Amino acid sequence: MNIDEKLRERYMCMREITISDYLEFIKNKQSVIIEDIEVKLHKNWNIKTYAPPDDYTLERTTVWSFPDRGNWATHKGNYRGNWSPYIPRNLILKYSKKGDWVLDQMMGSGTTLVEAKLLERNAIGVDINLDAVMVARDRLNFHYSTLLEYKEPIIKTYWGDARNLDKI
Ligand SMILES: C[S@@+](CC[C@H](N)C(=O)[O-])C[C@H]1O[C@@H](n2cnc3c(N)ncnc32)[C@H](O)[C@@H]1O
Repeated sequence: MNIDEKLRERYMCMREITISDYLEFIKNKQSVIIEDIEVKLHKNWNIKTYAPPDDYTLERTTVWSFPDRGNWATHKGNYRGNWSPYIPRNLILKYSKKGDWVLDQMMGSGTTLVEAKLLERNAIGVDINLDAVMVARDRLNFHYSTLLEYKEPIIKTYWGDARNLDKI
């Protein structure tokens, strides 16, 4: 395969990154470097809470303001450009129901997918940066089945280009 073909394969196809791929990846890695920032891979999370504070109410106007950044479950603000989990939480609760599918085609550290998992929506995440996909898989690497009212959501992650979502 020449370089051109390799690039084509790299950019034109979505490649699924499974939990097994993630487990293989973290055998030798404690962290990844993304845009000069080291992002730790936690492997085992010590989760204290799975949701925003009890007194949080969903946004009702066009101006959204949150009491804090949001650090429940595995959310962390250390991925460049990641958004507060309050944002996908509001969108998912407003526009979908349990069992629906949510797509984030530039998922970064996977904030949207973590929220989808917590809110019992199936989800597909894509990122062009393999390290970002591994960070997202790391943040999805938690169990909360005792809280499930519906059923275990299907969460799929892909390494690929949002301009060609050929596997969807
Ligand atoms: C601002 S970050 C998203 C952050 C995410 N909302 C979170 O909370 O972590 C944008 C992401 O888009 C990815 N990206 C940029 N161009 C892309 C493309 N053409 N296809 C897929 N992902 C892309 C980057 O690698 C980066 O991880």
